[in-house]
Amino acid sequence: METTTNSATGTLRQDHIAVLAELGRLSDAGRQLTSQSEAEAGEARRVIGEVADFLAKELEIHLQKEEEALFPPMEEVIGSGGGPIAVMRYEHVDMRADSQALGELAADLVDAEKASQNVRKLQGTITHLCDLLTQHIHKEDFILFNMADDMLSGQAADEVLAKMAEIETR
Ligand SMILES: [Fe+2]
Ligand SMILES: [Fe+2]
Repeated sequence: METTTNSATGTLRQDHIAVLAELGRLSDAGRQLTSQSEAEAGEARRVIGEVADFLAKELEIHLQKEEEALFPPMEEVIGSGGGPIAVMRYEHVDMRADSQALGELAADLVDAEKASQNVRKLQGTITHLCDLLTQHIHKEDFILFNMADDMLSGQAADEVLAKMAEIETR
């Protein structure tokens, strides 16, 4: 996911669109895991592996852009001891744990016997991750990023963009 807008939050909003599309695929695949059709269940396992890779790579970069580029200048204004940004940071910890669990369970899916034992656990992780991420993105898109747009303009916004560009090229 690359920076293609010049607003501090524009690129993060674009990332969210890509993440939500992947969550849609993940949610559908979670349901198809228990399909009677082995072809459909196999396709679901393949999609889950792809989404797990996307989350490990692309979502991780997105979280770093927020944590290292966007949040610090906001915390300088509103403080970091609690409040909305502390909640966002805490939710990032939670979603990284879910994403890692998804990756591990997805890796186990290649072993058909293990896969059938893990299906319920995997479906639970998918539901939790999709709910958490969808709500988190909603809060950022409709509350936090509007605060950021009001708070950061001119040079402050340019610095956020420069930092995000650096994180994307790591
Ligand atoms: Fe976030
Ligand atoms: Fe985000």
